[in-house]
Amino acid sequence: MAILTLTDIAHSYQKKGLFQPKQAPVLEHISLNIPVGQCFTLLGVSGAGKSTLGNIMLGIERPTRGTVTFLGQNLYEAKGATLKQLRRELQVVFQDSLSAVDPRMTAEQIIAEPLDNYQMVAQADKRAYITELLEQVGLSADDLTKYPRQFSGGQLQRINIARALALKPKLIVLDEPISSLDMVNQRLIIDLLQRLKEDFQLTYVFITHDIKAACLLSDHIAILEAGTITEQYTTVADFIASTKSAAHHLKTSLLAEHPMKRTIRSLP
Ligand SMILES: Nc1ncnc2c1ncn2[C@@H]1O[C@H](COP(=O)(O)OP(=O)(O)OP(=O)(O)O)[C@@H](O)[C@H]1O
Ligand SMILES: [Mg+2]
Repeated sequence: MAILTLTDIAHSYQKKGLFQPKQAPVLEHISLNIPVGQCFTLLGVSGAGKSTLGNIMLGIERPTRGTVTFLGQNLYEAKGATLKQLRRELQVVFQDSLSAVDPRMTAEQIIAEPLDNYQMVAQADKRAYITELLEQVGLSADDLTKYPRQFSGGQLQRINIARALALKPKLIVLDEPISSLDMVNQRLIIDLLQRLKEDFQLTYVFITHDIKAACLLSDHIAILEAGTITEQYTTVADFIASTKSAAHHLKTSLLAEHPMKRTIRSLP
């Protein structure tokens, strides 16, 4: 069953100035079904249109054409209480953990913000609930009163994940959530996301250019090239085995892990 469906999405950004023509399309002819409970990965190189598509799925960038159906409702037609409920079920974690938070707020205040917006938890239970969320992401009650500058990038990304979980959403868009982290933290966050997906019965849209991360977390891989979905794989094994051009191109662009196995290919 699909939790989110995109039907014939196209998107162009408007140039600045009222009478400026639209830019060349950034996305074209995109129809996708995101199955419930899966990690659906959008894999592609920089500039392919991944974040644009993610923002369209989140309801924050109205597509030039096409429809987005989330939990059976048209996301860009929904209004009032229905829209508020849909937004609650749809959360996001961005790449840049520091700019995603207000530097003047403590971890507790950062996580409390969505709770207050939705009046999710009684005032008396709030601190205990936030502490529980911090523990779920590998932090503790000691972190409640700390400010963003007192956390490492990996810890701050955990706070962003806790905030995304606070409203118990059904779907989280992860837009390059590990790209700013070192390799050890990348793996730790991938493992954390994997565990949370099971514990909270989440669906993910995982946006990445990182094939290794895609292979670790994905159930389904869709390759986005220059604004169109060119190939889709329903298992990581199928993606790894594929000799089709987009998958092959991405896989052969990877550096071999061991420096002695690396070869320098001359540029055309
Ligand atoms: N707000 C915007 N206004 C105008 N053009 C934009 C805007 N956001 C993105 N673009 C353009 O749309 C294209 C796709 O950008 P997008 O950010 O969606 O790619 P991406 O695949 O997420 O890249 P990256 O991996 O570098 O994050 C790019 O050419 C970009 O310059
Ligand atoms: Mg992006």
